[in-house]
Amino acid sequence: MSRQISFNIFRYDPQDGQDKPKMERYQLTETPGMTVFIALNQLREQQDPSLQFDFVCRAGICGSCAMVINGFPTLACRTLTANYPDGEITLMPLPGFELIGDLSVNTGKFMRELAERLKLWLHPKADDHDMHRLENPMAPEEAARIYELERCVECGVCVSACATKQMRETFVGAVGMMKIARFEMDSRDARTADDFYHVIGNQDGVFGCMTLLGCQDNCPKDLPHMQQIAYLRRKMAATIL
Ligand code: SF4
Ligand code: FES
Repeated sequence: MSRQISFNIFRYDPQDGQDKPKMERYQLTETPGMTVFIALNQLREQQDPSLQFDFVCRAGICGSCAMVINGFPTLACRTLTANYPDGEITLMPLPGFELIGDLSVNTGKFMRELAERLKLWLHPKADDHDMHRLENPMAPEEAARIYELERCVECGVCVSACATKQMRETFVGAVGMMKIARFEMDSRDARTADDFYHVIGNQDGVFGCMTLLGCQDNCPKDLPHMQQIAYLRRKMAATIL
C-alpha cells in the first residue's frame, strides 16, 4: 500500500521585502520509483504553484536540481523518496550561492565568476592559431583523462559540501580546482605549471584544502577530487623547488 510522505521545505522570496524565511510542511502519497524531483513537481502542480526549484534534464545531467536533502547536498532528480524509511524529507537550498527563491539558487552566476577568475578556457599555443595547419592528434589516454574531468555538471554540490569554502568565501573550491587540473593536463593549453601556480598556488587554492572530503563524498558524478587536488599540489610544489 502507498504511504504518505511529508516534506518540510524552506520557503523565502528575497525579492519580497515583507517575506521572512520559514519552513512549510506538505504531504503527498508516494508512488513507485518516486524521486524528490517528481514529488516537488507534484507539490507544485497540485498544492502550491508558488514553490520555486530548478530542473532541466530530470536525468542527473544538467546539475540544476541540486539542493540539500535531509542534510546532504545532492541532486533531487537522482534521489528516491524510498531512501527515507520514516517518510520525513527536509529540503533546503544549497548554501554558498545567491538565493533566487525557496530551493532555487544562482549556481550559474557562481560558475561564470569562477571561470573568469581562474580563466577556465583553453589557451591555445601560438601555432594553433594557424587555420591551415593540420591538428595534432591527441593520445587516447590523454583524451580519457580530460573526459573524466569534463563529466562535471556544475551542480554546486561540492561547493556546498565543503566546510573550508563555507568558512572562507575566497577559497576556490573543488570544482575550480578540477577545472584547473583539466586544463593543466591538456597538451593543447599553452599555460605552464608556473602560470597555474600564480592562480591556485596559495591558501585560496590547493594549499588551503583541509582534506575534509565533503566534495568527494557528495559529488553526484563521483569525480576524483582528492586525486586531482593531490596531483595539482605535486605540480605546484615542483614549481617552487
Ligand atoms: S565536481 Fe561534482 S559536485 Fe562539484 S560541481 Fe562538478 S559534478 Fe557537481
Ligand atoms: S534536473 Fe538535471 S540534474 Fe536533476
